[in-house]
Amino acid sequence: MKKLYITLLFVAFLIASCSKKEPKEFSIIPQPQSFEIGNLEFKFDNNAIILFEENNELEWQALYLKDLIFNSFGLVVSTSPIKDVRNSSKIFLRINKVPDNKGAESYSLSINESEVTIIANTAQGTFYGIQSLYQVLLSSKLTVDHDKMQVMVPSMEIIDKPLFPYRGMHLDVARHMFPVEFIKKYIDILAFYKFNTFHWHLTEDQGWRIEIKKYPKLTEISSMRKETLIGHYGDKPHKYDGKPYGGYYTQDEVKEIVKYAADRQITIIPEIEMPGHSLAALAAYPELGCTGGPYEVATKWGVFKDIYCTKEGTFEFLENVLLEVMELFPSTYIHIGGDEAPKARWKECPTCQAVIDREGLKDEHELQSYFIQRMEKFLNGHGRSIIGWDEILEGGLAPNATVMSWRGIDGGIAAAKDGHDAIMTPGSHCYFDHYQADRKTEPLAIGGYTTLKKVYSYNPIPDSLTASEAKHILGAQGNVWTEYMETPEYVEYMILPRMAALAEVTWSGKKDWNSFKKKINKHFDIYKKLSYNYCDHPFETNK
Ligand code: ACM
Ligand code: ZN
Repeated sequence: MKKLYITLLFVAFLIASCSKKEPKEFSIIPQPQSFEIGNLEFKFDNNAIILFEENNELEWQALYLKDLIFNSFGLVVSTSPIKDVRNSSKIFLRINKVPDNKGAESYSLSINESEVTIIANTAQGTFYGIQSLYQVLLSSKLTVDHDKMQVMVPSMEIIDKPLFPYRGMHLDVARHMFPVEFIKKYIDILAFYKFNTFHWHLTEDQGWRIEIKKYPKLTEISSMRKETLIGHYGDKPHKYDGKPYGGYYTQDEVKEIVKYAADRQITIIPEIEMPGHSLAALAAYPELGCTGGPYEVATKWGVFKDIYCTKEGTFEFLENVLLEVMELFPSTYIHIGGDEAPKARWKECPTCQAVIDREGLKDEHELQSYFIQRMEKFLNGHGRSIIGWDEILEGGLAPNATVMSWRGIDGGIAAAKDGHDAIMTPGSHCYFDHYQADRKTEPLAIGGYTTLKKVYSYNPIPDSLTASEAKHILGAQGNVWTEYMETPEYVEYMILPRMAALAEVTWSGKKDWNSFKKKINKHFDIYKKLSYNYCDHPFETNK
């Protein structure tokens, strides 16, 4: 009898463990910190109702979730502020009455047979809960029961929060420009993978892409180049297409995009490049250069000798530009560039040399530091903080600056050791303009070789930092320079699936390559469903 009992228990255990679904089947990327699947099922059908706590953001999110469900399955669910309802399927969006200690971005998602509850300390958290639910839904199947469409989702408990506070993606819209609709799609992809920052690279040698009302020539002249290099920069002699190219975002479009991102819990950090990568601005306002020009908007890629002169007129111009930029972008951070500014013109310019003398500076690197520190003081005075590429370390770091480490990780290490915050974007792991598979068969790219696995292997915290220094590493960002990306489809191809790997690096931290590989194959189906273009052979290993 006892034997039979033990056997029955064992069989019961086997049945229970077989019917328990493997969590990874749901392929949530980034992997939640804790994820358990149960045996019950919740039914999404058109009797389901989303009940939100009365709060503008949650009301917006309820409608957003309703749209996601409709777009995925054609199912229409209803929404309402929380009240007693008799519907059998309720989806709650709630904010904790008393915040727990898990932080602003944490959430829990709990599904049983009659209720889905997303609860968080803030609307940021509930938004991420919605993204996890959306990914679960996208991996589920629509079935028909008695002529009624329904999607059955297993019961589950997810408790989740991100590892890093800064999870960014960058986009260069200057080398190539993309329509507003695509910028929104890009933001949707960021939201899907729980990124919280979009670094919008708006000005370059090859084009100025933001309307500044005080300086109309920035849009009349700086936004257009007369032609564009054909093929790779390394192919000599250089050939050009002979076609004018350009465009810009109006302030109304910028506002629309900033709002679109904010609804999706994404902060946009605008980048206005200085003192280098400024040829397009100089083409319109040659008096801001050391030689006085004439200059023309660049038609090929690279680094150009002509940069802003350190004369007073330049500071006046940039401050006026930034005043309009700050009106449009509420982000605390403003990115001021700072990279790749050759010092040749400053060496020969009497005005720049006079500034060096007047300020008691040692050399042109200190002059760059003076330039950046002046801009920092201006922006700090308006309640903003600067981020700059790691060259801003040269000649002395501005007192409150955050460093974006791109020439490897040393800039990030130096900044953190010096008590400054840093964001890691090393070319080796975070440049999504690099090839991701065999370059012999890939579309043209700038160079490099940054596979999905390499991105996935990245740890933003350098080994050489102590625990307290490591706290200055805010997170990581994928950079998307678009010299060789002319179309939205190609941008999508270069970021997907690599940004999924970066999402797991910055949100989840724990690494399981084999499980991630399986999940990526499932996400390929999602990309097809959502019309996202992607690289479908990211596991190739030969160069
Ligand atoms: C950079 O890639 N020039 C920051
Ligand atoms: Zn000068």
